[in-house]
Amino acid sequence: MKIFVTGGAGYIGSHVVKALGREGHDLLVFDNLSTGHEWAVLYGQLIKGDLSNMTLLKKLMKEFNPEAVIHFAASIQVEESVREPLKYYEDNVCNTINLLKAMKLAKVRNFIYSSSAAVYGIPVNVPVDETADMKPINPYGATKAVVEQILKDMSAADDFRYIALRYFNVAGADTDGHIGQLYKNPTHLITRALKTAKGEFEKLSIYGTGYPTPDGTCIRDYIHVDDLARAHVQSLDHLMDTKKSDIMNCGYGHGFSVKEVVSTVKKVTGIDFPVEEAARRAGDPPALVACSDRLKAKTGWEPRHDDLEFIVKTAWKWEKDLTRKAYAA
Ligand code: UFG
Repeated sequence: MKIFVTGGAGYIGSHVVKALGREGHDLLVFDNLSTGHEWAVLYGQLIKGDLSNMTLLKKLMKEFNPEAVIHFAASIQVEESVREPLKYYEDNVCNTINLLKAMKLAKVRNFIYSSSAAVYGIPVNVPVDETADMKPINPYGATKAVVEQILKDMSAADDFRYIALRYFNVAGADTDGHIGQLYKNPTHLITRALKTAKGEFEKLSIYGTGYPTPDGTCIRDYIHVDDLARAHVQSLDHLMDTKKSDIMNCGYGHGFSVKEVVSTVKKVTGIDFPVEEAARRAGDPPALVACSDRLKAKTGWEPRHDDLEFIVKTAWKWEKDLTRKAYAA
């Protein structure tokens, strides 16, 4: 199948491109390479471009004429979104509208959307399922919720259908070791902790120790990026079969506190790096854990790497390879 993938050179996008490429799909990867990397695109054709460029988008959509679009390209940092909300509305909402307009003009009717657990805000029930209200507590989550509303309205008005995948905390690296996360200034907990173990940061800050959780630190549901990649492949198959729009959580159904993650990183790396207790970070909910029963029941997806130690091991292997590559360069 011909699939147009935005943000396919990024961390999650590149793992999905690999999973789709292995299945023999014909891929056009559209990425502005602001946080993505050319080397991460292992399958398909990469075109460097920005979603603000409507002329280019319309041209590519018409010429490539895909059956489906998978949309990863977005700004993703909760704390930055609190400081720079306009950037987030522009990148995540305006640019998605451009993409949807170009799709409409080219009569492309199938869409997989990278949504987020951040749409729930502070959920009443944990694990949270897709019937819970969207009540985001930060601009990042708000932009994802706005786009979900747009998709819902579009699917009611047009011959258009979508699956919004609500990601929980994505972590780890390709089990073959070919691709992984590489940001200029990483903010995610596991990457940050591994880089601290490597000595790239002096210490790791734990943002908040007085949350209403058993050890006082925030709880998240960490899902291995390869499991998330398969969730995309299976959701796309499901969408093409059923032609029905849906929303699905992607997580394992249990969470780990920041302190538990830090202990796991210390155990896997064998390095007792310095940790400090710091103030809360703006926009952080205390606990986010997914109920992914819908994804399992409807697409047949099952986790293969539901093991925090394994997740951290794959990320650590990637981090160490990055160091070797840097020394070799
Ligand atoms: N944390 C620290 N120290 C750090 C980094 C993070 O204590 O150096 C804490 C955070 O405060 C939070 C937890 O670790 O409590 C996880 O933080 P991340 O930055 O790794 O991830 P977030 O939960 O903020 O956000 C991620 C994605 C979002 C997504 C969300 C859904 O970045 O896109 O998971 O659960 F919406």
